[in-house]
Amino acid sequence: MKTEQTPTVKRLVDYRPPNFTISTVELDFVLDESKAIVTNRMQVSRAGRHNEPLVLDGEGLTLVSLAIDGQPLPAERFQCSDTTLTISSLPECFEVTVVTEIDPKANTSLEGLYLSEGSYCTQCEAEGFRKITYYLDRPDVLAVFTTRIEADEKCSYLLSNGNKTEEGRLPDGRHYASWHDPHPKPCYLFALVAGEFDLLCDSYRTTEGRDVALQLFVDKGNKPRGEFALAALKRSMAWDEQRFGLAYDLDIYMVVAVDFFNMGAMENKGLNVFNSKYVLAEPQSATDTDYHNIEAVIGHEYFHNWTGNRVTCRDWFQLSLKEGLTVFRDQEFSADMGSPAVNRLQNVRVIQTQQFAEDAGPMAHPIRPAQVIEMNNFYTVTVYNKGSEVIRMIHTLLGEASFRKGMDLYFQRHDGQAVTCDDFVLAMEDASGIDLTTFRRWYSQSGTPEVTVTDSYDEVRECYTLNCTQVTPTTADQTEKAPQHIPLAIALYADNGEELPLNDQVGELQHSVLDFKQTAQTFEFFGIKQKPTPALLVNFSAPVKLHFDYTEADLAFLVKHASDAYVKWSALQSLLSEAIFAAEQKGLDSLVLSDVIIAACEALIKTTQLDEAIVAEILSVPSVATLIEQRSFSDISRLAMLRDSAVRCLGERLSEVISARLATLRPGPYQYAAKDVAQRSLSGVLISYLAAGAPTHLPDIVERFNRVDNMTEKLALLAAANHWQLSCKERLLSSYEAAWKHDPLVMDKWLSIQALSPADGAISTIRRLFDYEVFSFSNPNRVRALVGTFAASNPYQFHRIDGEGYKLLTEVVIKLNKLNPQVAARIITPLTQWKKMDVTRQGLMKGCLQEVLALPELSKDLFEIVDKSLAQ
Ligand code: TRP
Ligand code: ZN
Repeated sequence: MKTEQTPTVKRLVDYRPPNFTISTVELDFVLDESKAIVTNRMQVSRAGRHNEPLVLDGEGLTLVSLAIDGQPLPAERFQCSDTTLTISSLPECFEVTVVTEIDPKANTSLEGLYLSEGSYCTQCEAEGFRKITYYLDRPDVLAVFTTRIEADEKCSYLLSNGNKTEEGRLPDGRHYASWHDPHPKPCYLFALVAGEFDLLCDSYRTTEGRDVALQLFVDKGNKPRGEFALAALKRSMAWDEQRFGLAYDLDIYMVVAVDFFNMGAMENKGLNVFNSKYVLAEPQSATDTDYHNIEAVIGHEYFHNWTGNRVTCRDWFQLSLKEGLTVFRDQEFSADMGSPAVNRLQNVRVIQTQQFAEDAGPMAHPIRPAQVIEMNNFYTVTVYNKGSEVIRMIHTLLGEASFRKGMDLYFQRHDGQAVTCDDFVLAMEDASGIDLTTFRRWYSQSGTPEVTVTDSYDEVRECYTLNCTQVTPTTADQTEKAPQHIPLAIALYADNGEELPLNDQVGELQHSVLDFKQTAQTFEFFGIKQKPTPALLVNFSAPVKLHFDYTEADLAFLVKHASDAYVKWSALQSLLSEAIFAAEQKGLDSLVLSDVIIAACEALIKTTQLDEAIVAEILSVPSVATLIEQRSFSDISRLAMLRDSAVRCLGERLSEVISARLATLRPGPYQYAAKDVAQRSLSGVLISYLAAGAPTHLPDIVERFNRVDNMTEKLALLAAANHWQLSCKERLLSSYEAAWKHDPLVMDKWLSIQALSPADGAISTIRRLFDYEVFSFSNPNRVRALVGTFAASNPYQFHRIDGEGYKLLTEVVIKLNKLNPQVAARIITPLTQWKKMDVTRQGLMKGCLQEVLALPELSKDLFEIVDKSLAQ
């Protein structure tokens, strides 16, 4: 390793308040594709008594001119480096005018000011504003922004944050618009968009009586596909008023959908920019999952207006302050709009599969990381999703009423400020009177606690005892671990399936949640007449792994009798996983599921007592990713075969029952409504079982594919045909291609299906698709659909023992190192998880990582991840 190249690590403990503050910023953009001139005039004040120089951040900027209080600055008064502009000998208060030139067209990183399909747009979070102008690019510097944009009239819409104050025509076919945002904000919330769009308009009256104009900008011709997102926005606004008493605070709310975007969407004040994937939907082109995600992301960005924008982060280590809380809010919103149980299971799956894997891997970090090289690498499932679980635990410990009081106090104290996670917890503590001292460890400690529970029953005392111990295994970033405050929700069931009241020595407990805070703790329950079956971690009350020595009969009992969907789901998942692991241990390539499991599944398929969507979730055989997360070391190809064998076994043994149930699932014309979504999801699962184990029982797939009126069912059929290699697969693929080849966003699903092909030849197909007209390495959605999906979800072909899968990913990562480092650093993740694999694969994977590490001009993004992975 060449040390002079090692990027610097930033640490939370080194946080210092800013030396200078900025009260107002006036930005003036003169836009041209390869040359944009940015004039930035800001009012700056020294903070505190010191003689430090002003150090502004800037990257990739060409400095045109610099003036203080209107006077050009002599060269000896300032210094430029690759990343800073330093100005010395400054008065207490002064005006800086800095003019820079940038090249939007050459910007393929999609950070700063760039072009997306001919439209200008910006992405400033986390540290992209410094690619636009010199500034104090940190979230604790809040200023009032005024923006003037001048561009060719071909860019008919010129947009920025806040309210439009002026617009007009200019000579030479150009025009301009000015915007003013009265709310002081950090620069990461700045946005500019200039381009040609179709516009959908609506309005919303807030509880405070403010009329808000809602504007949704989409690519020309896409108007009908924007209606659902706009309606979802109105639902979000109403929900936040109802649930949290939070209303919108400007007269206009704009959302722009763009095709080139690194993430899902961005909550810029009054001007959200969205990946078009999370805006555009029609029944023919979008699945139920797409609809669900659109509603969730629209909600997420809207909810940021209070949790993120009105109250923002002091520094980027506090990212979970806004993201964990906002994910919690969007999950609650989705639950209220649809099925709480189904949403919960889907969110739990993300934690157990992806977040637990992150904890066990080289990038392990607490929800409030302590050190960072590249901030973009910390927009993770840990910060977002585990962050949300931490908020959810606070909600569980406090209850809805006190939680709401805590939120109110948080806004009362901190509106307009840049604060820390500790400020949030303190507001919750002060509002509720509940002690969160030990609980705070969730913010600083990484890793997944493992809880082991044993039980005993004393007939004479009628006392049932749960003995709980917890240990958090060492993670890549931390060796010392302390016990966590784990809210452990439980239920006890009698043999007849009835839930028993929980009594301690004094009387009936108010709460079925145990406060488990020590390494070892015992909980006793009285008045128990016979040994019960315990349901543990009800509703997944904490992001931990739970071990209890259940028998097969106990688990089948819980699948049948537990009232909580998570407990049912988790019980069947354990039955299936255990069957797979048992066969793996014996070195088998296929398995036969026990009669107990078959009977449990049969009962689920037949039941009419449960929502079909919940049944579909419970019946889904764990993915290879979920399975591998539970093992410290495995032969992934064997695991993949056994997983498929389990599905095949269910299809074979239950073909009659499945066919009968399938016949009852007949949703009418497409509607995105909970009841219909549920039917479609169960029908998708059942069809895949038949495709796996009883293809002769399948309905005519081609006929059905041509008949159904919606993408959800079409894609389920295509996925089943692809994974189980039905002979109709090619026909379905061509028919899809013929219908959508001019629509890249819709073709992403087609690319993903081929990326998931378990068949030999998948890799050469992918290579051929690189040259296909819809594909482009510069579009992150295309890269994720084809390469991301392949690496993360095709265990057979990505993990080929000849290393061809790893080689493919490595080539793409190398290509993206310069083109788009953020995307490169994300799609490489599966390679960094080499520790879980057998030695042969470990060697191949490490070889690929070494090749990346040796690259000249390796990005900070990739360096941080690859270096950590190899250091393990
Ligand atoms: N704040 C955004 C969100 O969660 C995340 C985001 C959007 C982002 N674009 C980004 C993060 C680019 C890093 C880089 O809603
Ligand atoms: Zn967010």
